[in-house]
Amino acid sequence: MIATTCRNVAYFDNAATSWPKPPQVAEAMARFLNESACSPGRALHCMAGQATQLVNDTRSAVAGVIGAEDASRVILTSGATDALNIAIKGVINARLIAHKHIKPHVVFTVLEHNAISRPINELTQLGLIDSTVVECDEEGFVDVDAMLEATNERTVLVCCTHASNAIGSIQPVAEIGARLRSERPDALFCVDGAQTTGALAVDVDALNADLFAFTGHKSLLGPTGVGGLFVGERAYDPNSESPGMLPLRQGGTAGDSVSPVTPRQLPMYFEAGTPNTLGMAGLLAAIENAPARALEHEREMVRRLTEHLRGLPGVRLVGPSDIKKRTASVSFVVEGRSCPDIAGLLDERYNIAVRTGLHCAPNAHRAMGTFPDGTVRLSPGAYTTVEELDRVLAALSDLLAG
Ligand code: ALA
Repeated sequence: MIATTCRNVAYFDNAATSWPKPPQVAEAMARFLNESACSPGRALHCMAGQATQLVNDTRSAVAGVIGAEDASRVILTSGATDALNIAIKGVINARLIAHKHIKPHVVFTVLEHNAISRPINELTQLGLIDSTVVECDEEGFVDVDAMLEATNERTVLVCCTHASNAIGSIQPVAEIGARLRSERPDALFCVDGAQTTGALAVDVDALNADLFAFTGHKSLLGPTGVGGLFVGERAYDPNSESPGMLPLRQGGTAGDSVSPVTPRQLPMYFEAGTPNTLGMAGLLAAIENAPARALEHEREMVRRLTEHLRGLPGVRLVGPSDIKKRTASVSFVVEGRSCPDIAGLLDERYNIAVRTGLHCAPNAHRAMGTFPDGTVRLSPGAYTTVEELDRVLAALSDLLAG
């Protein structure tokens, strides 16, 4: 049991996880836990039927959010990290088996979260693949030509974040995906939508994404422990001899127990094991009760925050200057001041929650010149109030201008 309660916190760490959630999230989770929390798809009784319905409804709801026409192509996972591991290792394992004598090559960007860079670096260090990292410009944008130039005839996968979690820069993923399809049709395009799903309009077709990973606990406003991976037709064909992706986990599925291996049909091929139905109850409620106009609200918060920070002595804003090209992750450093000190003082003196450090994206900070200390990151969210923002602006003035 948690002993203390944090009260009257101005919460500016929504890029890590959103808080608070729509009240219906906790209500739906409590109701599900009390009334029908059992294993979906594996039994005929009424409660199992309700759990199965919940999984199907959640899958359809998230498919609607990301523009996936075929909901069976949305794999429900424990979050974006799980989804990205399924995508990266699934593609590489399949290619290593299908083309034993060709070393696969993977492209990723300097902005990636460790959930992308670590699996790729590990496979590279093991000598199983080659990989190339693409740099970004001084505002944190990768160049479409540079992404294409980094590919070669062995490139099987290109990974790019939709928006940097560390500095908020929104990447030109639709253009990268389109160019890849015409110039490198054998390479799959994997987009990390952890920071954008629920925050920006997302359409996996318009983004030309073969694989699109998302999480439920950030801008979708759901609980932790649930997310997903869209797997497009170019990435996985259940009817092909060589299906394009292998699952990370094998095991029990909701059907076809006779098969000696996991059945190839979607979504079950990638979903072995009892899923997080409790999380899905929360995520479905979050999607159904998402606040209107969250994007405009967050943009206005970011506008006020960035304008204020620009006026404070010694402050360097890190990331895009154009508000329309950024998410609500506002990162900054202050000359002569340590980031952990600033974050600690915001917490201790003003009860303001922010994140500091490298944000699990060390290369982004290397590129921005903010390695190894990182930045202080303020991330307002859909429920941040004007009073909370005013409190932050006053605290920043007090701490940094005084
Ligand atoms: N990726 C999360 C963040 O940016 C945890 O804080």
